[in-house]
Amino acid sequence: MTTRRILVTSALPYANGHIHLGHLVEYLQTDIWVRFQKLRGNRCIYLCADDTHGTAVMISARKEGISEEELIGRMQKAHLEDFSGFDIEFDNYGSTHSEENRELCAEFWSALRKADLIVEKEVTQLFDPVAGTFLADRFVKGACPFCKAPDQYGDSCDRCGHTYSPTELIDPVSTHSGATPEIRTAAHLFVQIEQLHGFLETWTQSGEHLQSEIANYLKGHFLGEPLRDWDISRPAPYFGFEIPDAPGNYWYVWFDAPIGYVASTLQWCRRHGESFDDWWRSDETEIHHFIGKDITYFHTLFWPAMLRTAGFGLPRMVHIHGFLTVSGEKMSKSKGTFVRAATYLEHLDPSYLRYYYAAKLTPRVEDLDMNLDEFVAKVNADMVGNIVNLASRTARFAEQTGLAETYPDDGGLFEQAAKDGDLIAEAYESCDYNRAMRLILAAGDRANQFVERTAPWNLKKDATKTAELRDACTIGLNLFRQLAVYLAPVLPKLARQTGDLLDEPIRDWDESKRPLLGKPVRRFEHMMTRVTREKVDAMIQQSKASSPSETEPAVVAWQDSDEPLKAEPLAAECTIDDFVKVDLRIARVIGAEEVPEAKKLLKLVLSLGGEHRRTVFAGIKSAYLPEQLVGRLVVCVANLAPRQMKFGLSEGMVVASGPGGSEIYLVSPDEGARPGQRLH
Ligand code: MSP
Ligand code: ZN
Repeated sequence: MTTRRILVTSALPYANGHIHLGHLVEYLQTDIWVRFQKLRGNRCIYLCADDTHGTAVMISARKEGISEEELIGRMQKAHLEDFSGFDIEFDNYGSTHSEENRELCAEFWSALRKADLIVEKEVTQLFDPVAGTFLADRFVKGACPFCKAPDQYGDSCDRCGHTYSPTELIDPVSTHSGATPEIRTAAHLFVQIEQLHGFLETWTQSGEHLQSEIANYLKGHFLGEPLRDWDISRPAPYFGFEIPDAPGNYWYVWFDAPIGYVASTLQWCRRHGESFDDWWRSDETEIHHFIGKDITYFHTLFWPAMLRTAGFGLPRMVHIHGFLTVSGEKMSKSKGTFVRAATYLEHLDPSYLRYYYAAKLTPRVEDLDMNLDEFVAKVNADMVGNIVNLASRTARFAEQTGLAETYPDDGGLFEQAAKDGDLIAEAYESCDYNRAMRLILAAGDRANQFVERTAPWNLKKDATKTAELRDACTIGLNLFRQLAVYLAPVLPKLARQTGDLLDEPIRDWDESKRPLLGKPVRRFEHMMTRVTREKVDAMIQQSKASSPSETEPAVVAWQDSDEPLKAEPLAAECTIDDFVKVDLRIARVIGAEEVPEAKKLLKLVLSLGGEHRRTVFAGIKSAYLPEQLVGRLVVCVANLAPRQMKFGLSEGMVVASGPGGSEIYLVSPDEGARPGQRLH
């Protein structure tokens, strides 16, 4: 068998959210495939990175009051911890916000320019006046213009399925700020992908690179008509890379994200002294992308077009999987089925999920349903009851003798399972892990029947049967080890434990073809314990309890109306210099009393710390009683020119919002703030 050179990627997870069980369908599917290829002796590297650019990260960073770099740094660390907790092993894990990526983006870009594929066009888009950014479809919600269903995204309606433009939404709101978007126009750069129509037709329909349902979908939905120009730039402010020949404009996140695959490879090559061209510009390298069905368009039309134009290798295969549902429904925060990877790890062994997903994954694009009862039942029956049981029922009786020197007659069991190895390998290769698991379990059943028949626990009681006992255990353990080899891509930990038990690490698929003989058998350590429904329920409970995650836009949780903003439109733009002229300070109310002659006013004495006092007349009497105020912290305009009023001198102002009457809201700082501190 010749060694293949294989480059594998999973989609780059967004840096604005944590890894959850849905993502893991993909990263586990890919990790299993990569481990399989490595076990087969192929040269295979697995690359990934965080997808960091775009408005979502920019807005999250602003909300948290940190830089984008800090936010993406934290998130990358969290992602890597989650992945390693599930034994997902990358050869390189990069970031789209890297120098390598910037270099490569420039290279792809100049190739597109050279091929004369870029045009400039005016784009009318919704603009969030509060956040100060244009709004992608996903960040606008409103009622569907067709069926009036509330709370729909800017591109299509969940209820009636119509697609539309975000400007058609009824009562749209920005999910960033809750503001009512305005319509604005800006110049954008587009890729005329239609010029590659012929190439894409051939490439997608060749039957070699895509699952047939995907090829048909593309033919039915896109390739039957001219391909629309692809909007590839975004005006500032945008967190991303500025386009070198279009200052003030940034590459749209979906331009630099797939280039992140290449950049991660470049990083790996530089680290290992490998030739980059061998991996990305050689017909001898197979490129395999694993992605979910939601990002099909980008990977099957746009990406091949970019690669082709820039002279890079094309994917040998784009493997597309469906979405995770839990008990037949979309993952849901309120039901506790939106489970973060980290939460799972607090309660359950990662091997359970690795096996369960493997047992459910097929080469088709279907959704994968996680049924919690089935999860418990399958893990216990298949892994604990079948596979691990083989070892636990034989190893302990072989500790003293070790394995026999010659392989005893087992009625052809080992040979049959060795032959099955080819079918199992084919199943892995074609991503039919479900079939691979069924073949493995069938071999496990046959091996268990053998152990049942020979009953080592009975042989052990009879001193004249030591040789028979040793033979029975030699067979049982070899049949077990064979399965541990086949399962190594799915259960690397079990493979490691098997290596320890029989003093011979599992390194190669072909180790399933030859029995292991004359080896000591170490003390049997627990390999996998039964999973209980209680632990699964505890995980669901915890997921229910945890606060809404940052992946859910704020407006979903709080249906804030835009009345206040409409009632008082934004003031004219000011500069930072204008702003710093106003000196806002934290102050403590140390005295408060009514002003009998004035209907609206309370007289407040504010302390800025030490002996620094201010007397202020505030129009808040309709909403606050004096005794409610003494002791609390407020924000005061401390350098406001004093104003002589009928009742005395007012030496500043306290900051409050609201239309008046009973609706006046004093602003107070978070806990820990101290009188005298300035607001910046
Ligand atoms: N950042 C883009 C991918 C850029 S690739 C150049 C993205 N990120 S994502 O974090 O939303 O998703 C990462 C991968 O996880 C995608 O392939 C996506 O399909 C997959 N999944 C996310 N949620 C999923 C489920 N609920 N179920 C199965 N896969 C899911 O898309
Ligand atoms: Zn609708």
